[in-house]
Amino acid sequence: MDWIPAEDSIRKRIQAMCARVEAVNQEGVYFYNMPVAELRGGARVVVNGRVMKMFASYSYLGLIGHPRIGRAARDAIDRFGTGTHGVRSLAGSLTIHRELEEMIAAFKGTEDAITFSSGYVTNLTTVSTLVGRHDTVFCDKLNHASIVDGCLLSGAKFVRFRHNDMDDLEQHLKHSSSAGARLVVADAVFSMDGDILRLPRLVEICRKYHAWLMIDEAHSLGVLGETGRGIEEHFGIPGSIDIKMGTLSKTIPSVGGYIAGASDMITYLRHQSRAYIFSAALPPAQAAAALEAFRVIEDEPWRVQAVQRNAAHFIELVRSQGFDTLHTETAIVPVLCGTDDRAFRMTSEVQKRDIFVLPVVSPAVPEGLARLRATVTAAHEPEEIEAASNAFAEAGHKVGIL
Ligand SMILES: Cc1ncc(COP(=O)(O)O)c(C=O)c1O
Repeated sequence: MDWIPAEDSIRKRIQAMCARVEAVNQEGVYFYNMPVAELRGGARVVVNGRVMKMFASYSYLGLIGHPRIGRAARDAIDRFGTGTHGVRSLAGSLTIHRELEEMIAAFKGTEDAITFSSGYVTNLTTVSTLVGRHDTVFCDKLNHASIVDGCLLSGAKFVRFRHNDMDDLEQHLKHSSSAGARLVVADAVFSMDGDILRLPRLVEICRKYHAWLMIDEAHSLGVLGETGRGIEEHFGIPGSIDIKMGTLSKTIPSVGGYIAGASDMITYLRHQSRAYIFSAALPPAQAAAALEAFRVIEDEPWRVQAVQRNAAHFIELVRSQGFDTLHTETAIVPVLCGTDDRAFRMTSEVQKRDIFVLPVVSPAVPEGLARLRATVTAAHEPEEIEAASNAFAEAGHKVGIL
């Protein structure tokens, strides 16, 4: 007789999720995977036939659709075609990949850099390649899921410290075993809250306890620092991070991820990380787009100033209306709503006013801290920022948040 499981937990999980999606759909507040049919300039999108002001984009410098970047991608297709033949180690590494890596290293002020096919994969493979069973990895509680997954995959002892709390990290380091390596990993800008990592103190602690330091710059590249070079430039402490991670899917309008650092570490990753050895590289058009985007950032420095100015303007407006925006100082602006239900209703009201913004609910954030996560870019005009904050205020009054 065939074995019949007492409880088919896979089926149960599928059914539970489908029921949740269906219930939200029934209430008319399912906002995910919305069909964006067109991009009009950097800050407008066409959704279900309506032109909406875009406040959910990670294209922080407004580079999506930049003519120079589009042209570079098309030229790369003409030159290399659309694929990569296979993995770079065995099928040949396209020169465009090396050019991109050299550009990233120069931009980030490191000896070398390596690219992978996504930011998620970059964190997963880097953490799990650098540390293993006898090591310890220390992770901020609000780090991105891809870092957490890399830590779990690595098999290293996994220690989570309180969010942005350097005293707590120091206590953990003090009491951790001195056998094996220590790696501390954190986001530079936290993706749900928009606050900035306390890097100077973190660097001191890592040096004191001989820990390697890895920082994810997904939301700080192009956003922090006078020239958009990220968190080291913001704090004026160049060369303080050992492993600089970033994505090519946000400020850089492409796809992929990178690690920048010392050349021996990059050589090690190129010959040891499974995502490099066993998976294809990013397509040549995307590599060329990313390369050109770094050049545009250098040629158009006003973009970095614009995103910083726009973010400060928006934060000031929504705070003065009475919203709680936590400790954000960056282009990610959480507008707290409370319950998931309130966040859904708030989204509905804001979207009725033609502002494209999405809710973040549990389990992505703790229960009771559901929010709308607005993102501000260099492409927004001051009137668009004012219109968005007015829409938030009207919606907040209607839903009872203000
Ligand atoms: C902090 C952080 N790290 C890594 C990633 C993953 O990057 P990608 O979307 O390029 O795979 C994200 C994506 O949202 C992120 O926010």
